[in-house]
Amino acid sequence: MAEERNQADDGGGVATTDGSLSVTDNRTGETYEIEVNDGTVRAMDFRQMKVSEDDFGLMTYDPAFTNTASCRSAITYIDGGAGVLEHRGYSIEQLCEGSSFLEVAYLLVHGELPEQGALDYWTYAITHHTYVHENIKNLMEGFRYDAHPMAMLLSTVGALSSFYPSAKNLDDETERYMAVVRLIAKMPTLAAFAYRHNLGLPYVYPDNDLSYPGNFLSMLYKMTEFKYEPDPRLERALDVLWILHADHEQNCSTAAVRAVGSSQVDPYSALAGGIAALYGPLHGGANEAVLRMLDRIGTVENIPDFLQGVKDRKEKLMGFGHRVYKNYDPRARIIKRHVDEVLEATGSDNPKLEIATELEKRALDDEYFTERKLYPNVDFYSGLIYEAMSIPTDMFTVMFAIPRTAGWLAQWLEMLDDEETKIARPRQIYTGDREQDYVPMDRR
Ligand code: SDX
Repeated sequence: MAEERNQADDGGGVATTDGSLSVTDNRTGETYEIEVNDGTVRAMDFRQMKVSEDDFGLMTYDPAFTNTASCRSAITYIDGGAGVLEHRGYSIEQLCEGSSFLEVAYLLVHGELPEQGALDYWTYAITHHTYVHENIKNLMEGFRYDAHPMAMLLSTVGALSSFYPSAKNLDDETERYMAVVRLIAKMPTLAAFAYRHNLGLPYVYPDNDLSYPGNFLSMLYKMTEFKYEPDPRLERALDVLWILHADHEQNCSTAAVRAVGSSQVDPYSALAGGIAALYGPLHGGANEAVLRMLDRIGTVENIPDFLQGVKDRKEKLMGFGHRVYKNYDPRARIIKRHVDEVLEATGSDNPKLEIATELEKRALDDEYFTERKLYPNVDFYSGLIYEAMSIPTDMFTVMFAIPRTAGWLAQWLEMLDDEETKIARPRQIYTGDREQDYVPMDRR
């Protein structure tokens, strides 16, 4: 059965009642009426169920929040069973076909498609905030030449909070807007600076004549030429890749941004938390892990042994599986179409593409994977495009962080405006010792 997603019937912020549960506590014989809204029950409604007056009451237990809605959101809708992804109601397929990353960023942040004037103003604002303070460059210089670019991005984004102290004024709409513009504008600059630092090349400053993806390619690749001219095919492929990575409802890194942001810290620090979460190989680090996995497999002939190793739980098939999609990730399908275009534009015939294609075919023919509903996710093919664009493997997750900045910020703003928002502070089931007497050193 298609996995139903919890969607407010009116599509808006008002909870819709779907009836109720009658819950009988067999420990006391008491029966309770629990309201069902938007396909959910409130965990706090179970606190009333006690076995004695001094009982704390029932809690819900859901490690990794596999079945827990943490918020109400109108930004991204996913139907994992049907492989549907929509941003503010627009399908990812239509947005990739007709929109641009900056326009999708506007849509995520503002909740509607912009008219031309608004898009021009948004583009102008972002284009004219791409520079970073020169002290940030000095900070970047402090890293070893071979520092992982995600570590440099994580650190420099967090450091931005010290350059914009007024961003702490979360009630100031102008401060919020400027932080959103600055972060979307500066993320590519910091990412490119980290890449140039790794190569020991001088940093390339932003070129305001170029598009958002074109400027990024210039900051990555410009050498002695007077003006870098990006290949329009690569510019478009990058723009589509960034649309595909812009937001994805309450994934690990977005949940981190919301949790960190719920303490009312500034957005630069909240996004540093998101970057840290994205860095993990099970999340945004998967695209890097896919390429390393394809390198380890080496040839098509090695695929059967590799897949056996996965079944023997010696390792995971990176780029496969998803907490929500139990069908083909619609983003993977779109990316796969662009792989061929980019390989043609770059003239690279990447042998890893043949291994990836055969690996996908064998896995999708194998019930070990189909039974577990393990299909390619967004990370399975993206790395091949980045590699074809001569982007080094450890920059792949940085390529994910750049567009996800727009999603993190849209979710952060929505969290700030949600009247139900409180500081995130989960409970626990205590399993440790109790009431131990302190033992002096001479008696241990
Ligand atoms: C992203 O959440 C998002 O939206 C994230 C993201 C976004 O846009 O923000 O979509 C981006 O992070 C995509 C996912 C990238 N990660 C990877 O490709 C890493 C490999 N995938 C897995 O680690 C895994 O599939 C997860 C983490 C993505 C999802 O894990 P779940 O939902 O916790 O699933 P699970 O670990 O409970 O797995 C269920 C079963 C288990 O087998 P059994 O114990 O039931 O026998 O499937 C197996 C798992 O062992 N399994 C895999 C597998 N993923 C799950 N087995 C082999 N290879 C895999 N990749």
